[in-house]
Parts: sequence; C-alpha cells; structure tokens
Amino acid sequence: MQIRVLTATDIRSALSMTAAIDAVARAYAQLSAGKATMPLRSRFHTDKGVTLLMPAHLHESGDFAVKIVSVYGGNPELGLPTVAATVLVLDPQTGMPLALMEGDSLTALRTGAAGGVAARYLARKDAKTVALFGAGVQARAQLQAVMAVRRIARVLIVDPFKAAAQRLADDISTWSGAPQAILADSPQAAVAQADIVLAATTATTPLFDGNDLKPGTHVTGVGSFTPQMQEIDAHTIRRARVVVDQRDAAMAEAGDIIIGKAVIDAEIGEIINGDKPGRQSETEITFFKSVGLAVQDAVTAAAVLKAAEAKKLGTVIQMS
Ligand SMILES: NC(=O)c1ccc[n+]([C@@H]2O[C@H](COP(=O)([O-])OP(=O)(O)OC[C@H]3O[C@@H](n4cnc5c(N)ncnc54)[C@H](O)[C@@H]3O)[C@@H](O)[C@H]2O)c1
Repeated sequence: MQIRVLTATDIRSALSMTAAIDAVARAYAQLSAGKATMPLRSRFHTDKGVTLLMPAHLHESGDFAVKIVSVYGGNPELGLPTVAATVLVLDPQTGMPLALMEGDSLTALRTGAAGGVAARYLARKDAKTVALFGAGVQARAQLQAVMAVRRIARVLIVDPFKAAAQRLADDISTWSGAPQAILADSPQAAVAQADIVLAATTATTPLFDGNDLKPGTHVTGVGSFTPQMQEIDAHTIRRARVVVDQRDAAMAEAGDIIIGKAVIDAEIGEIINGDKPGRQSETEITFFKSVGLAVQDAVTAAAVLKAAEAKKLGTVIQMS
C-alpha cells in the first residue's frame, strides 16, 4: 500500500481555481440529484476543543474522502493555528487510502470555488465591481474565484482591521490581470457601487444594509456557520432570490437564512442540473449562501490528487 502526501504548496500548484470551480459544480449537481452520500458532520468533543469528521462519497464521479477539522481555542498560546484540517482520499472501489493532504488550503480552494460556481450561474455577465467583506483567507479565495468567471475591474475591500485590508489590496495588485483594489470608505459606499458582494468574515451581525444593494446585484455569503451568526441582513433576504448549497444544511446552520426567515428558492445544484433557472433578469438580486459541505472537499481533493499525480507533486510513501 502506498499513499501520496500533499502539502499546501503542492495543492496550490496542482489545481487552478477554474478547475476547482468545475469540480465543485459537479459535486453540487450530484448532491441535488440524490447521487451523493454525505452524513451530517459528526462532532467529537475533547477537553480542549472539537474535532469535526466530514465524509462524502459521490456516486457518479466516484470521489470519496474524509476531512478532519480540529478547532482548538488554546492553540495560539502554543504557537499553533486555532483551526487545522486534514483530508484523506480513499479509493471508492477498495476503500484503500490514496492520499493525505493539508486541509486548510484545500478548504480555501473549495470554498472559493463554491462562490465561483454561484457567480457563474447567478452574477450578471457584465459584472465588474466587487464589494469584498473580509480580508482573510476565505475573502481572498472568494475574489480569486469570481475573477475566474467574470471580468472584474475593481474591488472595494471592507474590513475593520485596516492593516489586513491594506495587505490584501497590496497583494491583489501583484496578481496577473489584477483589478484595481481599494479600501472602501464604508460598507454602504461599497455595496452601493457593487455588481457582486462577497461576504467572507467572522462577523456575527449583518455587514451592510440590504436596502443599499443595486438592482441586479449578486451576493455570496460564506462566513456565518451557526444559527446565531449573521453576515447578511433581512432586507437582503427580502429583496433577493435565495439559493443555497444544501437546504438541510442551510436551515440547520446558517443564521443568515434562519434569522432572516428566508424562503429558499433553489439549491445551486438544481440550477446546474437545469431543474431551476439561473439569473432570470438584469435587475434580479440573488443571494447564494454556502455553509460548506463535505462533497466539496471530496471532489476537490480527488481533482487535486489526479492533477498532482500527473504533475508528479508530493511525496509517495510506502505504507506496507
Ligand atoms: N462556508 C464555508 O465553506 C467556509 C469554509 C471555511 C471558513 N468559513 C468561514 O469563513 C469565515 C472567514 O474565514 P477566514 O479563514 O477568512 O477568517 P480570517 O480570520 O482569516 O478572516 C476574517 C476576516 O473578517 C474580518 N471581519 C470581521 N468582522 C468584519 C466586519 N464586520 N466587516 C468586515 N470584515 C470583518 C476580520 O477582520 C478578518 O480580516 C469564518 O467565519 C470561517 O468559519 C466558511
């Protein structure tokens, strides 16, 4: 038995964001068609934190993986990150392990890709201005994914931590085909100019007033992940057509959906499968909420592994 071990650098070198978007679209399509097995994530509490187990198997594409995510609040005192994830890819025919990969960069890639899928189906084709809430790992990935599907000319960054916002703006200016990146004067000013609003923060209360959204805007939210956390307000929910990654997960975990009493119009997989329409007019406001699903990890990890094998990335270890 042998296993390929892939680092964060290997993962980033293996798969482009466009390929990750295609992979995640395949996952959503199979999930909404009832062609995936994905139990609710199980939570394993220890004295110091919680470890989440996230398995998924996609029946059509055969992708099969388990992500293990630990959230341990005392880690920074030990010089370790609060959140650490690892992904084990398995052979669906034999159950044998194929690869072990660093999970945080994989999470950023597949979470960005979720936003990319949503923008592909829901953002206006001519969308060019982005309001980006948050300047962390996920915000960066959300922007990269939207840039893979729309010609973005300008990004207005909103983050109360100004140094982080400036660092991201400086970093964006080094990307090839970089949009103009500036710090927004206020949430209201950013939203009023935006064709696409991306929310990827650790905030627990709404980031902006949905009354300030222009007709035709697409909003993606990936930050809030408990029933009490909200990034997106009830005005946005009232004005928007609401699309989610999975109804059950959104109804159980997303404060944006629960507190805003959202009526969910579609799963994104239903839109990909042609069972529900994508954007319906130039003036429609759309909101996509993703809480993050194990099927995204499984397809993205399998795509990374395939690309890594072709490019001979990582370290192959003989286990027995
Ligand atoms: N949906 C998913 O699949 C998924 C996957 C991974 C992470 N997440 C979640 O996404 C969120 C962001 O993760 P991250 O790794 O980028 O975190 P991070 O800590 O790297 O960055 C979060 C940023 O949000 C900013 N922020 C906080 N309040 C804000 C506000 N009111 N307005 C604007 N910015 C604000 C912070 O200053 C920080 O820069 C977290 O809540 C995380 O749990 C979701």
